[in-house]
Amino acid sequence: MTEEKRQAIFDEAAEILKINDRGTYTVPTHGLYPFQWNWDSCLTAIGQSYVDEPRAWLEVETLFAHQWEDGMVPHIVFHQLDDGYFPGPDVWNTQRPVPTSGITQPPVAGFAVKRLFDRATDKSLAQERAKALISKIDQWHSWFYASRDPANEHLVALIHPWESGRDNSIDWDDAFERVPTEGIAPYTRRDTQHADPSHRPTKEQYDRYIWLVEHFRALNWDNTKLHDASPFQIVDPGFNAILIRSCADLADLAEALGENAIAERNRDRAQKGLAALDTLWSDKLGQYVCYDRAAGCLIESASVGGLLPILVSLPKHRGDALVARLSKISESCRYLVPSHDPLDARFDGKRYWRGPVWLIINYMITDGLRKSGYNDMALKIENASLELINTGGFAEYYHPTTGEPCGGGSFTWTAAMVMEFIRRAA
Ligand code: DGY
Repeated sequence: MTEEKRQAIFDEAAEILKINDRGTYTVPTHGLYPFQWNWDSCLTAIGQSYVDEPRAWLEVETLFAHQWEDGMVPHIVFHQLDDGYFPGPDVWNTQRPVPTSGITQPPVAGFAVKRLFDRATDKSLAQERAKALISKIDQWHSWFYASRDPANEHLVALIHPWESGRDNSIDWDDAFERVPTEGIAPYTRRDTQHADPSHRPTKEQYDRYIWLVEHFRALNWDNTKLHDASPFQIVDPGFNAILIRSCADLADLAEALGENAIAERNRDRAQKGLAALDTLWSDKLGQYVCYDRAAGCLIESASVGGLLPILVSLPKHRGDALVARLSKISESCRYLVPSHDPLDARFDGKRYWRGPVWLIINYMITDGLRKSGYNDMALKIENASLELINTGGFAEYYHPTTGEPCGGGSFTWTAAMVMEFIRRAA
């Protein structure tokens, strides 16, 4: 791709960030997702930092202004009413001054804020803004271990598929069977009015998503109760790797800012998490897998959640094995990295997290690959990502074999990641 072409893509990406900018936060895309989403925002800030550093800091600060008193950072902040989305604030009923959802999302904030800090051209601004954020991120990390790791296993569980970000992953098909569908209030989905229903989760999955929301709502969103009361408790290696990486990055950042207690706490979490992660390794699949905590068994399902641990400082033999796995997967699909193994009979190249390629995942995987010196594989994934953009535009996700753009369009975090692919390599 020529330099001119790369610059044109970068400019178009920056324009998408502007279009979706609501002043103090950015919506993932118009229509389908009209509020602020947690990990979308943190990853968006990384793209924004190339064009407007103060605005990038503000994106993360707005999210953390809605942190709960117990430390949780919710997955959606409903800044403005918009009935184009379901489930809205009335369904969650979390009783917040500004309504929010009652569950969380992958904790990329530590990772993102370190990125903003490291690349800041305005160092004094970065010092001031980072210093105010790190204790809040530390509180969020503390919340994870207190609320989602009650037996002190150093791995946290998700209690709702939406927390993983990988909403309808094949990984939780069996565990999700335990979530009932009876008794929920009648509802109308709005997502299928904005996006092709064949790209979205099924009605049965939605019924179960809503059953869990109603169940937690009946417990008044009390995080001292939700984990044990949930029939769905999944320890996801990808989610935990993100948390471990964020703890490690927060520790480095805190050290640079002279906040030694935060640094020490987070270093300790990262070390213990890393050791515990190894219990999720599957020799059979040659990658990490989820653990169903409620059933007490590993889930033999080969999703991208089991490749994301490349983000953390793995022992070399594990890193090598994950790169071998990526090579193997590339034999059966043109565009890396599919969200599920294309050789699995349940793979569905268009349906959200059951097969499609997501550029935020590609970004995190390539970051990890480069950090550990696997540059050839990183380059292969970066090139595939740019090719997808070039042919399919800034979609929410893409079919890994055909490259067909799927889900929402003009997608903020896809744009932010493209800026990162183009500039990071420069
Ligand atoms: C949705 O509504 O599709 C989201 O993924 C939930 O956060």
